[in-house]
Amino acid sequence: MTRSRIAGCGAYLPDAILSNAELAQRIDTTDEWIRQRTGIRQRHIAAEGQKTSDLAVAAALKALAAAGRQPRDVDMIVVATTTPDRTFPATAAIVQHKLGIAGGFAFDIQAVCSGFVYGLATADNFIKSGQANCALVIGAETFSRIIDWEDRTTCVLFGDGAGAVVVEAAESGRAGILSTHLHSDGSGNDLLYTDGGPSSGDRVGKVRMNGKEVFKHAVTRLAEVVDETLAANGVDASELDWLVPHQANARIIESTAKKLGMNESKVVLTVDRHANTSAASIPLALAEAVEDGRIRAGNLVLLEAMGGGLTWGSALVRWG
Ligand code: UT7
Repeated sequence: MTRSRIAGCGAYLPDAILSNAELAQRIDTTDEWIRQRTGIRQRHIAAEGQKTSDLAVAAALKALAAAGRQPRDVDMIVVATTTPDRTFPATAAIVQHKLGIAGGFAFDIQAVCSGFVYGLATADNFIKSGQANCALVIGAETFSRIIDWEDRTTCVLFGDGAGAVVVEAAESGRAGILSTHLHSDGSGNDLLYTDGGPSSGDRVGKVRMNGKEVFKHAVTRLAEVVDETLAANGVDASELDWLVPHQANARIIESTAKKLGMNESKVVLTVDRHANTSAASIPLALAEAVEDGRIRAGNLVLLEAMGGGLTWGSALVRWG
């Protein structure tokens, strides 16, 4: 069976930065509380009129350039997002049009913060089955648009951004996506949600979260899926070169790294500068670590995420 590989990564962050200190001027919070509880120092916020598809296209163009591909080479586009431009059509179709791609197919995936891992798993399977040759998997969010900026328990946590990867069939060899693992448990759908939606009322709704419960689930579920991934590949945690986790909270990331016995120098951390960008956080972190030379050919890289749904998942990748 053909294996798929990540051929290039790209990232885009909006120019405007909102610091903890600025937030503390608007709501009852402090820079110290936010940093201690989450590790977040700042977040990027999309400009007025800048849509999720705009962020997605900017990241996709960089990923295509890194992969040495043109938009016309792409025959599959998956956009993982919780903040689509419109209820429909899929943001992926808008991205397809903006990139000037006439063929292939495009669709969105909704798995909130696990969306990128879900998208990567989907592209991997389409490529392995021969139904696609060159996929763009994009995690893109304008999460700031669905935040209740008066709710201090959520508004300090999120940011905007986009990350993209080009996934294509790997030549024979050991590099590529080794396995992906997806899970969900809908009984937790009321722990992290928006209080609106197309069939629930006439408004999009704002993010609501039972932070403590989500935190507990995240720590447990991520430990489970990481074990499952290592066991499926017969790999010991000591063989991992990099952990690229979903960036929701530095304490959740530390817990997973500790369970894996991984030193913080092997963990790609962006939550301090990006905050939680939901489906965009893993490809943003991946693009940063590949661009600055930390992740290199031959490295064994573990991606993992957990989010609303509840959803969680992982991917093990031999870089190259
Ligand atoms: O990406 C998808 C998954 N999402 C997550 O993984 C998020 C998971 N949850 C978390 O990261 C954490 O639960 C939070 C960062 C959201 C909260 O941290 P916590 O340590 O669980 O705090 P808490 O909710 O127990 O709140 C502790 C106190 C409360 O005050 P009292 O009741 O002890 O008097 C809160 O009202 O902190 C208060 N608080 C704040 N204080 C200052 C809550 N938000 C803030 C704030 N500034 N922004």
